Amino acid sequence: MMHSCSERKMMKIIWSLCLILSFFNSVFVFASPVKHLCRPDQRDALLEFKSEFHFHTTAAGEKIATWRNNTDCCSWEGISCDNNTGMVIELDLNNKFGLWDKSLSVPLRSNSSLFRLQHLQSLYLSDNDISGVIPDSIGNLKYLRVLKLEFCSLFGKIPSSIGNLSYLTNLDLSENDFSGDLPDSIGNLKYLRDLILSICNLSGKIPSSLGNLFSLTDLDLSENDFTGELTGNFPFLLLNLSELTGINLRSNQLQGMLPTNMSSLSKLEVFYIDGNSFHGSVPSSLFMIPSLTYLNLGGNHFSGPLEIGNMSSSPLKLLSLRDNNFSGPIPEGSISKLVGLVELDLALWNTGRGMVDFNIFRHLKSLAALDLSYLNTRSMVDLSIFSHLMSLNSLYLSGINVKIRSSLHIPSRIETLALSSCNISEFPKFLQNQTGLAYLDISANRIEGQVPEWLWSLPALGRVNISHNSFNGFQGSADVIQKSANLSILDISSNIFRDLPLLPKALRYFLGSENGFSGEIPMEICELVDLRVLVLSNNNFSGSIPRCFENFNASIMVLHLHSNSLSGFLPEEIISSVYLISLDVGRNRLSGGLPKSLINCTRLEFLNVEDNNFNDTFPFWLSSLPNLQILVLRSNSSTGQYILLENL
Ligand SMILES: *[C@@H]1O[C@H](CO)[C@@H](O)[C@H](O)[C@H]1NC(C)=O
Ligand SMILES: *[C@@H]1O[C@H](CO)[C@@H](O)[C@H](O)[C@H]1NC(C)=O
Ligand SMILES: *[C@@H]1O[C@H](CO)[C@@H](O)[C@H](O)[C@H]1NC(C)=O
Ligand SMILES: *[C@@H]1O[C@H](CO)[C@@H](O)[C@H](O)[C@H]1NC(C)=O
Ligand SMILES: *[C@@H]1O[C@H](CO)[C@@H](O)[C@H](O)[C@H]1NC(C)=O
Ligand SMILES: *[C@@H]1O[C@H](CO)[C@@H](O)[C@H](O)[C@H]1NC(C)=O
Ligand SMILES: *[C@@H]1O[C@H](CO)[C@@H](O)[C@H](O)[C@H]1NC(C)=O
Ligand SMILES: *[C@@H]1O[C@H](CO)[C@@H](O)[C@H](O)[C@H]1NC(C)=O
Ligand SMILES: *[C@@H]1O[C@H](CO)[C@@H](O)[C@H](O)[C@H]1NC(C)=O
Ligand SMILES: *[C@@H]1O[C@H](CO)[C@@H](O)[C@H](O)[C@H]1NC(C)=O
Repeated sequence: MMHSCSERKMMKIIWSLCLILSFFNSVFVFASPVKHLCRPDQRDALLEFKSEFHFHTTAAGEKIATWRNNTDCCSWEGISCDNNTGMVIELDLNNKFGLWDKSLSVPLRSNSSLFRLQHLQSLYLSDNDISGVIPDSIGNLKYLRVLKLEFCSLFGKIPSSIGNLSYLTNLDLSENDFSGDLPDSIGNLKYLRDLILSICNLSGKIPSSLGNLFSLTDLDLSENDFTGELTGNFPFLLLNLSELTGINLRSNQLQGMLPTNMSSLSKLEVFYIDGNSFHGSVPSSLFMIPSLTYLNLGGNHFSGPLEIGNMSSSPLKLLSLRDNNFSGPIPEGSISKLVGLVELDLALWNTGRGMVDFNIFRHLKSLAALDLSYLNTRSMVDLSIFSHLMSLNSLYLSGINVKIRSSLHIPSRIETLALSSCNISEFPKFLQNQTGLAYLDISANRIEGQVPEWLWSLPALGRVNISHNSFNGFQGSADVIQKSANLSILDISSNIFRDLPLLPKALRYFLGSENGFSGEIPMEICELVDLRVLVLSNNNFSGSIPRCFENFNASIMVLHLHSNSLSGFLPEEIISSVYLISLDVGRNRLSGGLPKSLINCTRLEFLNVEDNNFNDTFPFWLSSLPNLQILVLRSNSSTGQYILLENL
């Protein structure tokens, strides 16, 4: 099945732990002498292979350390031999705990002794640092059934000799940085069951030869740059591969319409094509596939009407239709029958200010995540309908009118709540005992008064957006927010706060523009040494920029102090972060020259110093900043000219 990258890594760790446990079992239970099998040519090839690489003290490194001449190579860790011939048939140097640490540095060369192990059936080198090109000679390993090279820093083209591995059943090259297209010869691998090429930087058309892979059960080409159409160029993919249980094509540049009749994909469980440019209607034959469990069509240009049909016994758990061009009423009757749904995403469906019967969601008792953001309906949703859903943990209702009764009680553990632009006028008090709350967005509402003290004692709270309201203060002591130890993102912009609160030291994003802050920027802010984004624009701060801003250099990416009354120089030491992407000190009273240390901000893309009193000569030296795209220098003293340069 398909998992996101981090999930896959987690599975890998769990799997590895299982292997280690079973390994210990086998050592203690079966510690009997092994028959000496090793063939000298195989042993020498392995020993040479060992000497070609540098090994670190990681899982792969520890394995290979057990390889010593004068012992039976078939008993070495990571090696399996054929019992009759003594040929090495499996080499497993999967770097199991290689989350950060990679072993096996140095590229694989075409003359590597690895290719003398011609009887290999399984080769696992995942999670190693084999930065290099896959050599043509991979085609020599013609008995390979399993080839796993994911997370290996490989680049260059995938060689067409891969098509010579005609017994291959599992191929995983995901998360490498290849270039070019997928070779046609992939269509020769007629026993291939799993083809996993996600996040591989592949482009071009998906080769039509893929339509010959009749054994394919799991196809994952997600997050590449594949172009082309599912109909037209390769109808095969959807119509001929009847063994497929999983198709993941998410985040490519694919377009066109889906074929009307998809019923030949009778075993399909996962169908992810989100993040492409498909258009047309969604064929109802897709919904009729009886095994379909995970369906993500989000982020395309599909349009309605949507005919889901009679799905009363559907196993569907995930349905995302978000961000398409569907319009008109949502198919309430059909959706209310999908009682197995765990995740439902209808965000940005345009009902044309029509009515929505939110009561249908009461029937979806298994729902954990529901996204109805920006449905464009004139119906109001009363949050009390969600008190029937015992598993609900993520609720996105931004852009809909929401009613929150004062007696509201939601029994499930809410972790994510997005109620931006919901026309609410009171702080949602039912959150008071939602101790799992990690993400809260109640921005762009009409809430007045003080932010309640209890909010900051919710232990999991990590991201809070209360911007664009009329809050004027924080209930509790001056350090009340500092109690929120896990808070990493806080947006309080566009309110009427007058005093900058003390902030928790682990905060990474602080957005406080458009408030009534005045006086000098308090030095306490410099204690936030992990800060990546600091936005204090459109306030009335005066005085100079504190020198202690140099504390931010180890992390700061965005520093915006636009439209204040700051004066003095822009000191060199505070502007020299290699992480800085955007610097905006425009509309202040800063003077002197531009700090030469900017030259060290090699990632800088946006620089605005307009409307100050800088009196420098034209900073031609900025042209050495490789990523600078927008530079605004207008309205400063001696430059005399109005300069606005874009896309340098
Ligand atoms: C391993 O040892 C044998 C003799 O015991 C020797 O012939 C062979 O060259 C050695 N192999 C390597 C790679 O050192
Ligand atoms: C493989 O070829 C490289 C040059 O491409 C050479 O430096 C290296 O010694 C060769 N290795 C072996 C094992 O022949
Ligand atoms: C792959 O197979 C083709 C045809 O059988 C052959 O011409 C070619 O040399 C092979 N390539 C490799 C690298 O084995
Ligand atoms: C589907 O497979 C059949 C052989 O079973 C083949 O004749 C046909 O051309 C294939 N269709 C496509 C579109 O590849
Ligand atoms: C859809 O295709 C299948 C074969 O893949 C065929 O049996 C079925 O009759 C077709 N259905 C329609 C409505 O064309
Ligand atoms: C829907 O399907 C179920 C069984 O799959 C059946 O009992 C029910 O009558 C069908 N409803 C309609 C309206 O066709
Ligand atoms: C919140 O408090 C109510 C009682 O007031 C309780 O029934 C409910 O389980 C609590 N919810 C959580 C998530 O602790
Ligand atoms: C907070 O909400 C506002 C308005 O909805 C939005 O523009 C802003 O990007 C949000 N802030 C963060 C940090 O996501
Ligand atoms: C750029 O960084 C280097 C290394 O940290 C430092 O030696 C140099 O003085 C800096 N240049 C400027 C102009 O600040
Ligand atoms: C900028 O102004 C300062 C005094 O305010 C002066 O010392 C300096 O020479 C000026 N620089 C330029 C380039 O005119």
